[in-house]
Amino acid sequence: MKILILGVNGFIGHHLTQRILDETDWTVFGMDLSDDRLGKSLQNPRFHFIEGDIAINREWIEYHVKKCDIILPLVAIATPKLYVEDPIAVYNLDFEMNLNVINQCVKYHKRVVFPSTSEVYGACPDPEFKEDESYLVVGPIQKERWIYSCCKQLLDRVIYAYGTRGHLEFTLFRPFNWVGPRLDSLYAAKEGSSRVVTQFIAELLMKRPISLVDGGSQMRCFTYVDDGIAALLRILENRNDACKNQIINIGNPDNECSVRELAFMLKKLFMAHPDHLQDGFYSEIIEVPAQTYYGKGYQDIYTRKPSIEKARILLGWSPVIGLDDSLRMTLYSFLEENGP
Ligand code: UGA
Repeated sequence: MKILILGVNGFIGHHLTQRILDETDWTVFGMDLSDDRLGKSLQNPRFHFIEGDIAINREWIEYHVKKCDIILPLVAIATPKLYVEDPIAVYNLDFEMNLNVINQCVKYHKRVVFPSTSEVYGACPDPEFKEDESYLVVGPIQKERWIYSCCKQLLDRVIYAYGTRGHLEFTLFRPFNWVGPRLDSLYAAKEGSSRVVTQFIAELLMKRPISLVDGGSQMRCFTYVDDGIAALLRILENRNDACKNQIINIGNPDNECSVRELAFMLKKLFMAHPDHLQDGFYSEIIEVPAQTYYGKGYQDIYTRKPSIEKARILLGWSPVIGLDDSLRMTLYSFLEENGP
């Protein structure tokens, strides 16, 4: 099989590429702005990388959409701080640019595996979010955080409409707070604009306070990237067409914890690491109002737990990596890559 991955150097893209090259005989064509996370994949003869921008290199993309069996458009801004700071950029990249790719998949009747998001459920009150039942609940327009959720939801609906009318074939997958090595760059974290796990690790490394937004009682289910990628590989394999035109949550409901618990767990793991046992001084954990941390366009999501029944049935998959291991492996990989 030939797989096209746009955003191949991103968190999901580079992990997926490595696993495809290690575990299958498929060929990967990948585009991204840079290649710093791709490591040894770059040397593999079954991997073809081009440095490029989805807004500019449209002919290259069209040629490869035509040539490949499966298209994964993984390019997106996916950090809440940026949803609030630059909602137009989120709309342009996450919606407009991705719609161009979807239109090409329609033109050539391709199979597209598209990253929807846990964020489309928004503030849904269900104890577990179900792909085919749960309501998708967002806040008012002034709360600009929801632009990401809305862009993704509209694309989900466009893809669904094309797929169910036979213009393309799709699987929408919804990652729930995947974590792991190289989640976000520490540079982004220094600016205060990375996702929570990288942000906390960066604060620990820089000895800066860890901020619990609005007290940190909001809950997330953290999913280790290796578990997530295992599910994604099964979606790409698509045995017996099981994933055809399906929406599938990929998360770990057993790894639920509050942001406050997360902060204390990461701090404890950091303090126990051999390189930091003797530090003497460690980040304090403080509370910060959401307005101060993100600005007035922010609104939080207090509970977010996936139902993974569909993934179990359609893919024969369940996550196996617990919360403690997920956080330890993520933290240790950051420390190794940024160590003394
Ligand atoms: C994330 C992002 O939108 C996407 O990466 C993705 O689509 C989705 O969720 C996902 O990964 O499933 P969220 O979980 O809200 O959304 O993003 P984080 O930045 O990781 O924040 C998690 C929680 O930690 C939020 O409640 C936030 O307020 C809190 N937080 C974040 C803090 O308390 N302190 C910080 O320094 C940073």
